[in-house]
Amino acid sequence: ADLPTCLLCVCLTGSVYCEEVLPPMFTVPTLPKETAYLYARFNLIEKISTSDFGDIVTLKRIDLTGNKISEIEDGAFSKLTLLEDLNLSENRLVRLPMLPAKLIYFNANNNRLKTSGVKANAFKKMSHLRNLLLADNLLEAVPFIPDSVRILHLQNNNITEVNKDTFCKSNNTYYLRPSLSEVRLDGNPAVLSTYADSFTCMKVLPVGKYR
Ligand SMILES: *[C@@H]1O[C@H](CO)[C@@H](O)[C@H](O)[C@H]1NC(C)=O
Ligand SMILES: *[C@@H]1O[C@H](CO)[C@@H](O)[C@H](O)[C@H]1NC(C)=O
Ligand SMILES: *[C@@H]1O[C@H](CO)[C@@H](O)[C@H](O)[C@H]1NC(C)=O
Repeated sequence: ADLPTCLLCVCLTGSVYCEEVLPPMFTVPTLPKETAYLYARFNLIEKISTSDFGDIVTLKRIDLTGNKISEIEDGAFSKLTLLEDLNLSENRLVRLPMLPAKLIYFNANNNRLKTSGVKANAFKKMSHLRNLLLADNLLEAVPFIPDSVRILHLQNNNITEVNKDTFCKSNNTYYLRPSLSEVRLDGNPAVLSTYADSFTCMKVLPVGKYR
């Protein structure tokens, strides 16, 4: 039988800490009502189902770093309208599920994400998104980046090109992106000097290969 979550994990006013739990944890534990912060790092979770976070609409932060997650059902996070911080880094994801619109921090570094699994408009409606971390994946194209984004990590992917509409707007020479202050495109095949006129709306050039 399953041990109750708060015997296996540490529960403290609204926070649940389940890190490197023994016996090993293969699924998301049943969460106490009104959980706001879940830290379930470094376990053996393989799949996230829609029912895992079902009615825990109070969640603001979920950290699942360092599990074995290869599948997340599309509705798994869609009801979590207060969720601001989602960390899925160091897992085995090939595709992303639908993501809630209020996210501020999203980290999916170190997965196996492919462009076919990250819709071009996956982040488009996220008008609060500040940090978008997608480094160390298999992406071949840059998804749509909302204006609010400050830090964008796409290093160590398989991105071969950018164009005038990747960060700027080809039909609007007055468009500026004042928020974007750190862009990492190093470790990709794209030679950025080829696309010099694609960065004119930005105040910093991407870090990457220029020759
Ligand atoms: C995600 O988790 C890793 C490992 O716990 C941590 O180093 C990193 O700061 C987290 N990222 C965010 C954006 O919270
Ligand atoms: C990188 O992309 C090229 C096509 O642009 C493809 O042939 C190659 O297999 C990809 N590499 C990896 C590691 O996915
Ligand atoms: C530029 O193109 C985009 C999409 O193609 C369109 O939504 C927008 O209205 C256009 N802006 C101008 C200033 O023409």
